[in-house]
Amino acid sequence: MIAPFTFSGLPRIIFGRGTISELPALTGSFGKNVLLITGIKSFNTSSAFEKFKETLNLKKAKFYHVSFSGEPTPQIVDEIYQEYSAKSIHVVVSIGGGSVIDAGKAVSAMMAETGSVTDFLEGIGTKKISGCKAPFIAVPTTAGTGSEATKNAVLSIVGEQGYKKSLRHDNFVPDVALIDPELALTCPKEITAACGLDAISQLIESFTSTKSNPITDSLAINGLFFAFNSFKPLMKGSLDDVRMREMMAYSSLVSGITLAQAGLGTVHGIAGPLGGFFHIPHGVACGSLLPGVMKRIVAALKKTDEKAIVGKIAKIGRVIENHPDKSDIYHCDLVVETLEEYIELSGLSRLGFYGISAEHIEKIVDASDNKNSPVQFSKEEMIDIIRERL
Ligand SMILES: [Fe+2]
Repeated sequence: MIAPFTFSGLPRIIFGRGTISELPALTGSFGKNVLLITGIKSFNTSSAFEKFKETLNLKKAKFYHVSFSGEPTPQIVDEIYQEYSAKSIHVVVSIGGGSVIDAGKAVSAMMAETGSVTDFLEGIGTKKISGCKAPFIAVPTTAGTGSEATKNAVLSIVGEQGYKKSLRHDNFVPDVALIDPELALTCPKEITAACGLDAISQLIESFTSTKSNPITDSLAINGLFFAFNSFKPLMKGSLDDVRMREMMAYSSLVSGITLAQAGLGTVHGIAGPLGGFFHIPHGVACGSLLPGVMKRIVAALKKTDEKAIVGKIAKIGRVIENHPDKSDIYHCDLVVETLEEYIELSGLSRLGFYGISAEHIEKIVDASDNKNSPVQFSKEEMIDIIRERL
């Protein structure tokens, strides 16, 4: 039986090596007034950026450039949109990691609104966002969040009263997602690891989500195939191998598509508050939690008769390494073992490095949830999941 589902829009996807050269013409197709948002490093000093600016100048485009560092806050979004909303911006272009893309997505949405973006954030604001926006082009330079294909922008305030909340509307899926895997070639191992583990978390959580559907299932398992074939080589030193970058960039894109449709699970349900209370990169939070969450999902399922979801997790295991003579449970355990190996290979710091200690766990768990996980964990189980990564 196929349960009823909806599948909302996708961006126009332009994927492949060298496609960054198409960006000036693409940008021009929306109009002459361009607002470009980037991070403060990497792309700003690249030859691709120089070429992009040159071409826009040749086309006599009016070109405004804003850059920022860290994760986007409501204040950053407000400052950018308030400064540029009167300049008849025809298109907003974000070139950078997930934070930069989320900022651009929120700025493009706020071009049609007044007030603060905080007023429209889920769980925080009381106003309803209209869904009108300036056209938006997303160009990821890392492979992880999949934000180039999602309909939400995550904004955060970090600290005691911190939060990570979404500005969401079906119309906020970027108009164009331009993914050039060559842009990620200079991404260092630590960021590659965190982003890659975020993409893998998103693919696994959307595939096992209680809201998955046959389309997201096909896409997620395909995304996982490419992620499993590239993550290990990248961690073992193939950072400058464009074929590996290509596979991970594709996995990330697909993870954005599937999470936007099927939602996520406990890993993201805990990673949200973790990122609100502490300065911990989203991918590090997800990667750190993923093995512990999957270990407990598999352990819980072994005690039940939930054959469908066991079969799905086993399918992930068979993508890693198919043993036709072995059982579904064998392949479920293989998933957990592989994720534990990945976190070791990644060399990511433990949660304690980001200032998280035992005394904080209860507060984090109180703000966490299981989202669409096939197994709903108790507060005590969530405490254990966090504690073992301190
Ligand atoms: Fe994520």
